[in-house]
Order: sequence, then C-alpha cells, then structure tokens
Amino acid sequence: MNESHNKETLFRDYLKSHPAAAREYAKVRQRHPQEEQFVHSSIEKAKELERRFGTIQIGTDRLVIVNPKPSDLDALHKLMSDPDVMRYVGRGPRDRDEVNEGLQRSVAHYQKYGYSMGLVYEKETGNWIGHAGLRHLGFDDTQPEIDVGYALFKEYWGWGYATELAQACIDWGFHQLPVDYLIAIVFPNNLASRRVLEKVGMRYVKNIQYNDNEVAYYRIDRGNTKNESL
Ligand SMILES: CC(C)(COP(=O)(O)OP(=O)(O)OC[C@H]1O[C@@H](n2cnc3c(N)ncnc32)[C@H](O)[C@@H]1OP(=O)(O)O)[C@@H](O)C(=O)NCCC(=O)NCCS
Repeated sequence: MNESHNKETLFRDYLKSHPAAAREYAKVRQRHPQEEQFVHSSIEKAKELERRFGTIQIGTDRLVIVNPKPSDLDALHKLMSDPDVMRYVGRGPRDRDEVNEGLQRSVAHYQKYGYSMGLVYEKETGNWIGHAGLRHLGFDDTQPEIDVGYALFKEYWGWGYATELAQACIDWGFHQLPVDYLIAIVFPNNLASRRVLEKVGMRYVKNIQYNDNEVAYYRIDRGNTKNESL
C-alpha cells in the first residue's frame, strides 16, 4: 500500500468513529473541491474542537454536544435547579442528589451505548448553554424507544438552538443507530418545545401517561428526514 492510500484509509476510519469530524468534513468538502484540503482541514478542525471541549458526540453549525462525565455535576445542577428551565420537565427543579442520580445514569448509558445526553457549548464563544442528546426513554434500556431531549438556559432561548440540536440528534440517530423511529415526549403546555419538534419533522401521535404525568408523544420515522444519508 502506498502512503496516500494509507492516509486515506486512516482518514475514513477516523471519520467513522468521529461523527463530529464527519460533519465538518462534509461541510469543508462543499467549500473546497481538493481532497487534500478536505482531509487536512477537517481533521484539524475536529481536533481543535476536541481540544477545546473534550470528546464530541454531535456537532452542529453553531454547537457541540460533548459526551457526559461525572464532573458535569455542578454544571448540570445549575441548569436543572432553575425553575424556569424545569417548568415542563419531570417533577420540576432537581436537588443535587437527584441531578447526580440522573447524571450517573447518563454516563452509564454513554459507556454502554456510545451516546447519551451531554453538555452543549457554543463553538464560537465556548459558552456552556445547556444539555441535549439521545437516550433510551428515561435511560431505561429494558424498553426500545430512543428519545430526543434538550434543555437550555433562558438566555439562549429563541435563537433556534433547540431546533438545531434536535435536528442533529435525529440525523445522528438515523445514521448511527439501527432504529426505525425516534421519539420525544413533552408536557402538553410546553409550546416552545412542541414547536421545536414540529420544525424538525416530528409528528404528534397522542397523549400518554409517563411517570404520573400526561405528556404529548411525538415520533419521526426513518426515511422522513432529509439528512439521513449524511
Ligand atoms: C424548549 C426549549 C428547548 C426551546 O429552545 P429554543 O432554542 O428557544 O428553541 P428554538 O429557538 O429552536 O425554537 C423555538 C420555537 O418555539 C416558538 N415558541 C417559543 N415560545 C413559544 C410559545 N410560548 N408558544 C408557541 N411557540 C413558542 C418560537 O417562536 C420558535 O418557533 P419559530 O422558529 O417558528 O419562531 C427551551 O425553551 C428550553 O430549554 N426550555 C426549558 C427546558 C425544556 O422545556 N426542554 C424541553 C423538554 S421536552
């Protein structure tokens, strides 16, 4: 094998195991028609993002979702103890022990499946803005449904970030996971979140009971999103 063939193979393997890099590669490729340039700038860009934020699960144009780790506890507690953020989430604001319990389940889910909920950062500023990701509904892998989730600090609402995150999670899910559909559940009064789900092509199916709450159940089927072949 010659050197350029080796380099190409290494690059393809790298992209397979680094979806964020694959997305950057796809973007650079549109802008630069020369292969050498794609390879170099894509790898460098992905490495630079990982140097700044840690291991990235999913990247969007403006944001990254970083894999969860036990040291996220302080950050997550800040987010999940905010009554405005938690108004339509589960039982409402959580104390530190409750957040820690959820974080441990999130980390365990990531270790077992390679994806989970993770902290979200703005690429440009490096600001931490919330969390998002995919996981078995309620981190319960005794049931098959994979759920799209997101929650952002108030100051980042209204910038299209949740839509960007939900779309990226759906694209990633259909590209990486052997699922026929993805779901989301939302409190019926959470109109902003329902709008996000509608914008990314999820369809309302029915209201269901979930953990003692009535929630609206949304679903998107494989084949119904434009970016699946990324
Ligand atoms: C729900 C949430 C994630 C939305 O984030 P966001 O980044 O502001 O969402 P986006 O900007 O991508 O889109 C919001 C959409 O809802 C619309 N919207 C906002 N408030 C609304 C309301 N009260 N009624 C109807 N639509 C509303 C916006 O106009 C926008 O739609 P548009 O693009 O057609 O104008 C954010 O409010 C949040 O973090 N809330 C707290 C946590 C939470 O509820 N998470 C979801 C649990 S299911």
